[in-house]
Amino acid sequence: MTSIRFDKLETTIVSVVVVNLVCSVQIEQEHVFYCEEKREGDLMIKVPSSFISLYIHSIQIERMNNQQKEQERIISMIFAVSENHVIGKGNDLPWHLPKDLKFFRDTTNGHPVIMGRRTFESIGCKPMPNRYNIVVTSRSAESFKDSDGQTLSNIQGKLAFVSSIENGLQLTKDIQKVFIIGGTKIYEDGLQFSNELLITHVHSNDVQGDIFLKIFNNQETLQDLNGSHWNVLTEEFHSKEHDQLQQFDFTIKTYNRRN
Ligand SMILES: NC(=O)c1ccc[n+]([C@@H]2O[C@H](COP(=O)([O-])OP(=O)(O)OC[C@H]3O[C@@H](n4cnc5c(N)ncnc54)[C@H](OP(=O)(O)O)[C@@H]3O)[C@@H](O)[C@H]2O)c1
Repeated sequence: MTSIRFDKLETTIVSVVVVNLVCSVQIEQEHVFYCEEKREGDLMIKVPSSFISLYIHSIQIERMNNQQKEQERIISMIFAVSENHVIGKGNDLPWHLPKDLKFFRDTTNGHPVIMGRRTFESIGCKPMPNRYNIVVTSRSAESFKDSDGQTLSNIQGKLAFVSSIENGLQLTKDIQKVFIIGGTKIYEDGLQFSNELLITHVHSNDVQGDIFLKIFNNQETLQDLNGSHWNVLTEEFHSKEHDQLQQFDFTIKTYNRRN
């Protein structure tokens, strides 16, 4: 028999394995160190040695799976910003760039989108189709009405109102790619969770607006607000000369975090 110590940290596997193979001790938190001294408050149980290798093995597989999931999950912030850091005006976009709107629609199509309350209002309080629309707000779902005056409610997979970005990410934890779609506070607070940036750089230093965003402290070194650095992976220039519908030239760049 060997002793295993359970610290108050992680969860699930322990209770499953313990309940199935050892005894009916209900463990709420997981995390195992084996053959350690008992400390005050630790829970000691005795299990067969053979179980330990089985148990540790399953923990390792679980951790590897979790790490893989974390690595694969892409949390992407997508926004358009001018050279003078404008992103919004009068709770709307401050420019006419249909090609960029199409890029936004095509890119986010089929993925959950996390947005602030004002951005949700700016799209008419109407969930974008084929996307799980997650609205971050301190208000309740029932306090929102769509353009037809209908009171809104949470609808799994279509619309959810959450009190923080973390809750929005938690709601979509099994989904491989999630987009954070603004506005300013959501981008600033969501930056720490993101590993991809899709930025449309609008080539004008003179855009009029009332909502501003500056993600990079240093545009040369691509150091962000939190001190992290980013790489440019792709960039694509779009000229208004070739497409009169566009108000400005713009470049869409994809960034990922530098390790
Ligand atoms: N250029 C672009 O790519 C782009 C993208 C998106 C939006 N926009 C523009 O940006 C403007 C809207 O953005 P905005 O910055 O004014 O507002 P916003 O971020 O969309 O909404 C702000 C509200 O969201 C909630 N919120 C934000 N961060 C939160 C957090 N960390 N935790 C909990 N709640 C949080 C709060 O709602 P409550 O007050 O309800 O608690 C807050 O008042 C519009 O002009 C829109 O057109 C531009």
